[in-house]
Amino acid sequence: MFTITFANPKGGSSKTTSALLLAEQIHHAGATVAILDCDPNQNLMLWADQRQQQGRDVPFLVRRVPGETEFLDTIDGIQGKADYLIIDLEGTASTLVTYAISQSDLVLVPFEPTPMEARQAARAVHLIKNTGRMMNKTIGHALLMTRVNAAFQTSDEKDVRKELLAADMRILSSSIVRRAAYTRIFREGSLLSELLAQGRAEVQNSTASQQERVLKPLEAAVQNAKEYTQEVVNQLSQHEAAA
Ligand SMILES: Nc1ncnc2c1ncn2[C@@H]1O[C@H](COP(=O)(O)OP(=O)(O)OP(=O)(O)O)[C@@H](O)[C@H]1O
Ligand SMILES: [Mg+2]
Repeated sequence: MFTITFANPKGGSSKTTSALLLAEQIHHAGATVAILDCDPNQNLMLWADQRQQQGRDVPFLVRRVPGETEFLDTIDGIQGKADYLIIDLEGTASTLVTYAISQSDLVLVPFEPTPMEARQAARAVHLIKNTGRMMNKTIGHALLMTRVNAAFQTSDEKDVRKELLAADMRILSSSIVRRAAYTRIFREGSLLSELLAQGRAEVQNSTASQQERVLKPLEAAVQNAKEYTQEVVNQLSQHEAAA
């Protein structure tokens, strides 16, 4: 089982969103996914509950972790039940964050590419490296730019990428674009694939331009999630090959 953790003590940096996008695409690629929701706000548990209440299936095993005491037992209970374990952490630094990092094959640090967020993301990377040092192992990690502009690369984004690379930080080459579909999946308890299927059904008798207006952003959202997932899965294989 590969364990991927989303960590950034900065609240609202897109950990939960990036975690759900990854879980869905890994699931569509045919692997089994478990999610550990370690955030007391339980956004992923609520997403799963919403689906259950609407009679829709939840395609992942989703477990809540109430606190650090229960963390290791919960992971033990999941062993063998999924190919990938995705851990979503709350937006603070805590012992639970260190536990989760220590159990990970890959820690992703999502952040919006602004200078202030980049500094906080770099601190999260130090926490990952220090956790690895304490355990005498290298913990795979990468920064992940999120909520980037769909149309063009901002100067902030360019500068932040350049500075972080110059500081020897690893950044995924795929970024996650700011898209309405990525907030809608939480509002509606949906998967991206469902939004796209729904959109296609809604516009099937519409004009070509109406179809394009509705479907293009949804298709782009799916494509972006796929590319990012592909890169994450590749990183895990590389890390495994190097280990
Ligand atoms: N790529 C995106 N496009 C549009 N909205 C996004 C994107 N990523 C995140 N958001 C929105 O930004 C807000 C924060 O995102 P999210 O909840 O994923 O962050 P988080 O790091 O998990 O936050 P917390 O630290 O509170 O757990 C949410 O309202 C979410 O819908
Ligand atoms: Mg969250």
